Amino acid sequence: MGKIHVTDREGGQHEIELNAGDNLMEPLRELDAGIEALCGGMCSCATCHIIVASEWAAKLEPVEGDELELLEETESYQDGQSRLSCQVTFSDELDGMSFEIAPEE
Ligand code: FES
Repeated sequence: MGKIHVTDREGGQHEIELNAGDNLMEPLRELDAGIEALCGGMCSCATCHIIVASEWAAKLEPVEGDELELLEETESYQDGQSRLSCQVTFSDELDGMSFEIAPEE
C-alpha cells in the first residue's frame, strides 16, 4: 500500500492510495477532472497522459516503443517526464510519487 499525489486538469490536488501491482490509469479515470483513457489501457489513445515530477520519472521504467511514439505526438509532451498512465504499474518504490494530468488535447 502506498500513496500518489495527483494534480488534476483543474489544478485540484488528490492523494490516492494504491497497492503494488495496481495500474495508475484506473483511479485517474474516477476523478472529475481526470483522464478519459478512451482505449481502456491498450496504449493507443494517449488520453491517459500524465507529466511526472522529474525525481519520480527517473524511478520509472524507460519509456519506449508505442508509448513513446504516442507521447511524442501530443502537444504537451515533456521529454523525460511524460508517461501514459495505463503503462505504469505502481510499486512500493513509487510510494509518494507526484504527477499532474496533462491538458486535454
Ligand atoms: S488509456 Fe489509451 S493510451 Fe492509455
